[in-house]
Amino acid sequence: MWINNRNLCNYCFSPLDAGNRCRNCGLSTGEYRADADLLVPGTNLIGKYIIGKTLGRGGFGATYLAYSLNRQCPVAIKEYFPNQIACRARGEAKVSIVSGDKRDIFQHGAKRFYEEAKTVAKFNNSRNVVDVYEFFYANDTVYYSMEYLEGVDLKGYIEMKGGRVSEAAAIKIMKEIGEALIVIHSTGTLHRDISPDNIFICKNGEVKLIDFGSAKQVVGEQSKSLSVILKQGFAPYEQYQKGGNQGMWTDIYALGATMYYTLTGKIPDDAMSRAQNPEIKIDPKYGISPAFVNIIDKCMRMKINERFQSAHELLGKLYAMDSLDVTLWDDPPTPPIPPTPPVPPTPPWGYPPSNDPPPLPPMPQKKDRSGLIKGLIIGGGILFIVAMLVTVFIELVRQANAAAPEMAQNAAVNVLEVCDAPTYNII
Ligand SMILES: Nc1ncnc2c1ncn2[C@@H]1O[C@H](COP(=O)(O)OP(=O)(O)O)[C@@H](O)[C@H]1O
Ligand SMILES: [Mg+2]
Ligand SMILES: [Zn+2]
Repeated sequence: MWINNRNLCNYCFSPLDAGNRCRNCGLSTGEYRADADLLVPGTNLIGKYIIGKTLGRGGFGATYLAYSLNRQCPVAIKEYFPNQIACRARGEAKVSIVSGDKRDIFQHGAKRFYEEAKTVAKFNNSRNVVDVYEFFYANDTVYYSMEYLEGVDLKGYIEMKGGRVSEAAAIKIMKEIGEALIVIHSTGTLHRDISPDNIFICKNGEVKLIDFGSAKQVVGEQSKSLSVILKQGFAPYEQYQKGGNQGMWTDIYALGATMYYTLTGKIPDDAMSRAQNPEIKIDPKYGISPAFVNIIDKCMRMKINERFQSAHELLGKLYAMDSLDVTLWDDPPTPPIPPTPPVPPTPPWGYPPSNDPPPLPPMPQKKDRSGLIKGLIIGGGILFIVAMLVTVFIELVRQANAAAPEMAQNAAVNVLEVCDAPTYNII
């Protein structure tokens, strides 16, 4: 497509070089098809914008990449196009209402959508909120144009990082969105739809809030489809009730839930089911510091008055934490948690096979000769004593023989003295 003498891609508006295939989005002319009920690429909007590819589509509207003829650069354009209320014939730009009884809801929502765009435009000087350029009626619906952000929404960013994000990166994102909330809340506005796809991580490292949800809330309440429109897991309990007590704590709950998802890759239980089981747990396997777990827990309290009551209070706790300052776009992918090794099956007889090393071969035994030596010593001693006794005995016998009469006489006297018996017979 030639615009202002430049050959641009029909879908992302990057300059095309020699070939017709776009180096940026990889598409060549005719290759891309928008949803049948959305605006087709090339559609001219109020003489100021050319529609390109669709960036996203939700229950409430569609977001297109477009080219601004005035600014001469790509922009993003959001169209009010609520599901099951609005429809469009293939190839047509004009929006219709599915049935007459939905007209009021459609118009009420359209008005809120327009007001919302105006409100968001008030934050154009805030670093953490997307800039809105223009809001207008066309094709029987409402549009607003905004700066086109280069990067990826937080949902895509989490995928890019391997399914979850490091604690330091999550803290950084939470601080940036906390800053956005301080600005928004100071004007009495609530975002009402904070979630991973409404936080944008720009390639230049900025973090921005997009897609305010007050119009969604109104349409949801009026069409009795709140639970369809609300983001399960991120919306607090009070948003499920018509006229629920919404306030700064409502955005704080959603931000806490978004951080839970950012750190774990898991959508928290939805607020309705948490009413029965309100405890929020972050598995220690993720290695999140207890201080940050406590902050998330306090954001996600079921009872409104137990949550942080303002973004100021929340940021106070976050800034008190000792955390690394990271560059989001360069933050390396989060390494996966190693799987826990499977427990080997227990054999039927009881203990699982042991992982101990195999038994060592028996050590060669030294021959124990101490018993033999002891035996020899004792035996030798006994022999010596016996030999001595024999020698003494022989000597005594020899001496006795020499003095026999005297000895016999003495012995007789002794016996008589003791036994007092007649000795004559013995001698
Ligand atoms: N200004 C923007 N720049 C780049 N991408 C955008 C912009 N606004 C929205 N997007 C992308 O389009 C998706 C849908 O837009 P969003 O405004 O969230 O509408 P909804 O959620 O109602 O469909 C976003 O999640 C984001 O990926
Ligand atoms: Mg969105
Ligand atoms: Zn392209």
